[in-house]
This record gives sequence, structure tokens and C-alpha cells, in this order.
Amino acid sequence: MPDSSDEFYRIAKLPPYVFAVINEMRAKARAAQIDVIDLGMGNPDGATPRPIVNKLIEASRNARNHRYSQSRGIPKLREEMVLRYQRNYGVTLDSDKEAIVTIGAKDALAHLLFATIGPGDVVVSPNPAYPIHQYGVLMAEGQACMLPMPDASTFLNRLEDLYRKSSKAPKILLISFPHNPTTTCVDLDFLKEIVRLARHNGTSIVHDFAYADLGFDGYQPPSILQVEGAKEIAVEIFSLSKSYNMAGWRVGFCLGNPKMIAALARIKSYLDYGVFQPIQIASIIALRECEEDTKKICANYQKRRDVLVTGLNRAGWPVEAPRGTMFLWAPIPEKYKALGSLEFAKLVLEKAQVAVSPGIGFGPLGEGHVRFALIENEQRTRQATRAIGQFLKG
Ligand SMILES: Cc1ncc(COP(=O)(O)O)c(C=O)c1O
Repeated sequence: MPDSSDEFYRIAKLPPYVFAVINEMRAKARAAQIDVIDLGMGNPDGATPRPIVNKLIEASRNARNHRYSQSRGIPKLREEMVLRYQRNYGVTLDSDKEAIVTIGAKDALAHLLFATIGPGDVVVSPNPAYPIHQYGVLMAEGQACMLPMPDASTFLNRLEDLYRKSSKAPKILLISFPHNPTTTCVDLDFLKEIVRLARHNGTSIVHDFAYADLGFDGYQPPSILQVEGAKEIAVEIFSLSKSYNMAGWRVGFCLGNPKMIAALARIKSYLDYGVFQPIQIASIIALRECEEDTKKICANYQKRRDVLVTGLNRAGWPVEAPRGTMFLWAPIPEKYKALGSLEFAKLVLEKAQVAVSPGIGFGPLGEGHVRFALIENEQRTRQATRAIGQFLKG
């Protein structure tokens, strides 16, 4: 039955959240005292590093920090972010014109699209993808052009094809590596090629870098701003959610092309008064002092990844180890493929008491897969693979 709010113009473009079905089943099972192992949502389970929490407590005691803050973020936080880019990527940015604080990456994505595209503008992105990559475009009345990404080079070939054949060049290319949900990782040469293509065709680039710090086995995800000349057409979105276990705090950044940053700043000046100032002050500590914590967070995901990959392979479900992100993107076992990802995810929850995300929730090209999030400890993850093994044998 259509939701009554479907009568509203923009709401009608937004289908009900596919993941809600699994979330509801999980909640029901838990209410019935069933121990569900939750590998569904990409919601980090670890604590925010101590020094950040302590700084928040201290800063929130100061009444001066209770007032409206600045929509584009306090200067010291922007400066600290710019220093981190210099340290980690050798990228020089102007903290005034080329960096803005956002209420997480989601705010940056949704409002940047809202600010920069209009009716009919084409935005190209890989599919499956993080839902806002597609729906942010629809909400801004753009046209989402989704290209399949079984691997990075196929995506690049499809993009070259599109430029050759299409009469209307895309306005924006929206990419994200390491990629949620497929875990596709790329090197700097790939990003150089993307920037070259986009510049040649007058397309701007938005690079969602939410998994900037989650590369495994020595792999370090490159920033698109490392590409020479990238700043002329590209912005990168960085988030503290995964790098510092700060998902609930809602802090992110948009960095790079000054024109796009100014557009985002303008729209945000109408919409918000910035992140609560004590959170911004605590975020300075994250960026300045917590690099070791970030490394530990990443190493922890890597250990969980190993347990999950080994366990699933042993359970008779062949999967490949991802090089980055906090996910595993698994093709549905042959025997169950015909069910589709939503029915299969429901079955895994019912029979193995393990919650996973159905691939279809990430767009039409996500069908045929489910996504595991590495958000339970090693012991629980091992327990999940054993339960899945029992279910697959049964
Ligand atoms: C690709 C991608 N971008 C953005 C986000 C959201 O980040 P934030 O918490 O900074 O809004 C996520 C969260 O899962 C994500 O997977």
C-alpha cells in the first residue's frame, strides 16, 4: 500500500527503505530474546578515542560554546584538516576557500548535489552505491546515470563509452573509493585517468572518501586531490565517522574546488548553524592527536575481515577478501540466487540468526549480492560464519 506521505512531490521519488524490512525482522527476533548477530548496517561498534571524548566534555562546560557556531566550521578545525591533508597526502589546501566542515559526509553529499545540479543535469556514478549517491541526485531533480562496476576498469571503460556516445556530457561524476558496498579499491593512476577524462569533458567530480583510512594489508587509499590539477574540477568528502569511530557525532568535510565549496557554503548558510561547537573543538583533537587510534581501528577491521572470509569459505560460501572498507560484498550462493537478495537476507536471518544487507538496497545493480558489515567482534563474527555454515548445509 502506498505510504500516505507519497502524495508529496519529493517523497514520491523516494521508495521505502529496503533495509527497513531486515531491521524490523532483527528487532522482532531480538524482542523474542533471539540472539541476532548483526552484520547489517555500517555502524561502527567501537568507542570514540578517549582524548576526543574528554575534549568534548571540557568544551561543553564552557558557555561560550553553547551559542550558534559557524555553518562552514570554525577556522581552527578547517586548518587542522588542511594540515592532515598535507601530512597524509602531500596536498596543499587553503583552509578558508578550499575546506568546509559538514554535518557528516551525508550532509555534504546531499547539499552539494542540491547546490550544484538542476533539473535534468546528469550525474554519473557506479551502481550499486551508497543510497544517497543515487537519491541525492533525484531529490535535486537531476538525472542519475548508473554505470555497472564489477571492477574498476570495467567502470572506466563504460565511462569512456558514455563520453563517446552521449550527446549531453554529465555535469558531475560521483565516485567513492574504497567503495561501499562493493569494496572496490583503486590506485592513484585510476584517479588520474578519471580526472583526465572529466577535465577533458567539462565534468566536475565529487569523490566520497568516507573509507579514506580503511585500507588493508598495507594498501593506502589515494586521495583524488593528489592528482595534479584535480582541484580545478574536483572536491573530496572526508568523514570522521569511520576514521575515528565518530559516526554519531556527525562531522565531515568537503575539500578542494573553491567554486563548489562556495556553493555548498552558500546553501548551508541558509540551512544550518554548523556542528555543535564542542564537537568541532573535540574534532580538532581527533585530527591532531589520534592517528594511532585510526590505525588501530583499521587493523581491527582487518582482523574481523580475515575471520569472516576464512569462516565463510570454510562454510562453503566462496568469497574474496576486500582490500578496504568495513564490508564484505558476497555473491549469493548459486543454490539461492534465484531468491533474490532481499529474500535471501531474510532467510539468513531466519535460519542462521545473522543480519546482512540485501544488495538490492544499494540500487538495481546490487542484486545478486549481500553485504556483510564488520561490526561484530571476532568471536561473534566466527559464530556467525558457523551458523551460516549450518544453514547452508541444511
Ligand atoms: C560511501 C559512504 N559515504 C558516506 C557515508 C556517511 O558518512 P557520514 O557518517 O560522515 O555521514 C557512508 C556511511 O556509511 C558511506 O558508506
